[in-house]
Order: sequence, then structure tokens, then C-alpha cells
Amino acid sequence: MIKDQITNLKNEAIGQVLEANDLKTLEEIRSKFLGRSGKINELTKEIPKLKPEDRGSIGKLINETKQTIEEVLSQSQEKLGGKKEEWFDLTLPGKKPEIGHLHLVTQTINEITDIFAKIGFKRVRYPEVEWDWYAFGGLNFPENHPARDEWETYFIANLNSPKYGRGLLTPHTSSGQLREMEAQKPPLRMLNIAKCYRRQSDISHATMFYQFEGLVVDEGINITHLKGTLDYFFKQFFGPERKARIRPYHFQFTEPSFEVDVSCSGCLGTGKTASGEICRVCKEGWLEIGGAGMVHPNVLRNGGIDPEKYTGFAFGWGVERVLMMKYGIGDIRLLFEGDLRFLNQF
Ligand code: PHE
Repeated sequence: MIKDQITNLKNEAIGQVLEANDLKTLEEIRSKFLGRSGKINELTKEIPKLKPEDRGSIGKLINETKQTIEEVLSQSQEKLGGKKEEWFDLTLPGKKPEIGHLHLVTQTINEITDIFAKIGFKRVRYPEVEWDWYAFGGLNFPENHPARDEWETYFIANLNSPKYGRGLLTPHTSSGQLREMEAQKPPLRMLNIAKCYRRQSDISHATMFYQFEGLVVDEGINITHLKGTLDYFFKQFFGPERKARIRPYHFQFTEPSFEVDVSCSGCLGTGKTASGEICRVCKEGWLEIGGAGMVHPNVLRNGGIDPEKYTGFAFGWGVERVLMMKYGIGDIRLLFEGDLRFLNQF
């Protein structure tokens, strides 16, 4: 008996919902069947009067009926353009999706590439697994010359070329100089940014690091072109008040050779603070960046370029070194540990 009543009620409700043409009618149907004194609740009140063994199954049936009516109601509501039952607070702050970003080293490589692109340098890539000839022999290092020791090179076991010598991991981007000369005729304006490998590890050295190497070869290139390029880069990268200084040095593959310094941001090259004390960042006004020089005639010759006609300059510095100076980072290892607490700051 009561089962039939429930079935009839369900059919009646579904029939009315399907006939309804607007949201208001649907709301009326909802309260008529599902409201506090609606028909479903009326039926529920009958349960205590039933035989105890029937109460469970009838209760369940009533619940199912209620659910079915609710489903049909909300489907029609959606069809008629109404909102679903559930609602949400538009003013709640949303959850931000996690978005990654480029690593600081990659950001810096891109920045350096852009700065040099503006004055016509083209970024190139040459092998990281190289021959001795490109890293040393062809760069004017005689075999067994003690100067090679400074580069603390990883040689590759059982990799030898009769023509080019031992296989190695590039210890500096200068290996790109001869590659570039072989690939192209002057004028050359190369920017070679690559991974370099050396057997070294402390707060300012990592076994794998990046260098960027500039090479310009053309007729009439001299030291003033080098100095102008260095000044330009420092102003672009570190800020308009910074200047470059070159000091005599020695490299096998440049003559003359220099070490390049940049004026300190703390004391602007004076070595003294405003109150006359010694600058604690640099002590003497300048910070060392790395090597540079005029390309050695032997290197030009090895690259198939006539040193009587052409001259050139080159420089090669650490990407991590310049970025650590720019952002005041004290330990190179932070850059390669992948700790998001550090990386998210940049
Ligand atoms: N390759 C040198 C180094 O690793 C730097 C350098 C590059 C010096 C170009 C002179 C010219 O220290």
C-alpha cells in the first residue's frame, strides 16, 4: 500500500517537473514535494506506524524517491538556465596554480645573449666533448706546457684522435674560438655560452659551470674596441655607473692578455666609503671578472685566418660569477642545489 503511494508520488513529481516551463514553477514543485511540510515528509511521518520489519525498507525507498526527485529537479533547473543547488562565495581568494619560472642561470644567459645581440654578437654552440687541439693545442699551448695545469681538465679515457689529440670535457669556452674561425670567414662576432668542466669545488667554484666567450675578428680591431665592449657590457648588466678596467696578465692564446675588473658598486671604484673608510666589498675599488686579450697571431693562423690582414679580441668569463656579483650571492653551490626557497627569490 504505502509502496504504491510512494511510486505514485514519484511519478506525479517527475511528471510535473517535466511539464514545468520556468524556474518559479520548479521552485513551487520543490517545496510541494521536498519542502518541510511537503509530500515526502508527510510519507515519512507514516513510517512509525508500520510494522517494525518494514520500516527499514520503506525508509530506504522514500529516500531514493527523494533523491530521484531532486535529480530531476536540478536537471530541469539547469536546462531552464537556473543555477545549480550548490553555490560558492565569489569573494573567496582563489587558489593560485603553481607556475614555474626559468632558473637564475638561464635568465642570466638570456640577458647576456640579449645585451651582446644589440651590438651584433651572435650566440653559437660548439661541442662540450672536445679535442685537445681546440681547447689547448690550437690555442698555442705546446704539449706538456705547465700553463695547461691551470685548467684542471677532465680527460676522457680511451678517446684519442691522431690529428686532434685526447678527448676532453671543455674546461673553457675558448675552445669555440677555433671552431668559429673554421665555420666562418671574418668579420666574426661570436658569443659562445656553454657548460665548462674543471676538477674544482668550493664556494666560488663548481665542477660544472657556465662561461660566456666573446670573439671579434676583423680588419683593424684593436684594444680600444675591446675596452669599449667591456664598458658597454658592464653598464648594461650591472648598471650605468659601472666601468671596466684592464690589467696586464698572461694567457697562451692572447697577446697582449688582460685581467678585467669592474668598478665596485659599493664605492664606485674609489675603494673608500663616503666617510673615508676602506670599502668592505672590494677593499680597493675594483672586482675581478675574468680574462681577455687580443687574439694571438698563432691562433688566427690555426683558424685559417691571415694575422697580417686581420686582428681580433676575445674575452671569457663565468656566467655564475657575474650573476653572483650582481645579486650578491656568496656561494655558487646554491645555484645548483635546486632548493626552491632559494630559487623562488629570483
Ligand atoms: N679562457 C680563459 C679562462 O678560462 C679566459 C679568456 C678568454 C682569456 C678569452 C682570454 C681570452 O680563464
